Amino acid sequence: MIVNIKVNGKEYKKDVEPRTLLATFIRDDLRLTGTHIGCDTTNCGACSVLMDGKAVKSCTVLAVQADGHEIETIENESDADLKKIKESFVEENGLQCGFCTPGMIMTSLYMLRKNKNPSDDYIKTNLGGNLCRCTGYVSIINSIKKASEKINEERVVAK
Ligand code: FES
Ligand code: FES
Repeated sequence: MIVNIKVNGKEYKKDVEPRTLLATFIRDDLRLTGTHIGCDTTNCGACSVLMDGKAVKSCTVLAVQADGHEIETIENESDADLKKIKESFVEENGLQCGFCTPGMIMTSLYMLRKNKNPSDDYIKTNLGGNLCRCTGYVSIINSIKKASEKINEERVVAK
C-alpha cells in the first residue's frame, strides 16, 4: 500500500506491506534509527514518537494507520524544546545505556507541551509507559524538571 507520512517536517511517500509497524517503517524505510524497539509488545516505550502531537508507541501503530498523519521523532532538529530536553538529559545524567532515552525524551516533549511546570507526580504518571532498566528514574525526573526550567526561561526572555 502507498502511504504518505510527514516525518520531522518532511513528506515521505512509500510503498509498504500492510503489516509493517510504524516503528519498522521509521527505522528501516526512513533509516531514522533513533527510535528504538525494545519489546515490540507495547510495554517498554522505547519506540515512543509523537503522532499529530500525541505520544504513541510506534510498535503498536501500523504504518498504514499513520498515512496522512504527522510524526515527530528524536531526530527532529527543528524543535527548540526537544533540543533543550536532550541537553537536560545529558546535563542531569538522565541516561546510562541510552536504550530507553529516545522514548523517554519524546514522552517528555509531549508532557512538557501539555504542562510547562510539571510536578514530580505529574512526571511519574506521564512516564508510566516508559521503562528504564538503568537509571532508577530519579535522574530522568531531574532531567525533565531541568528541561522545563530551560523552556520557561526562554519564554520569559522572549516576552
Ligand atoms: Fe514499543 Fe517496547 S518497543 S513499547
Ligand atoms: Fe538504560 Fe534507560 S538508560 S534502559
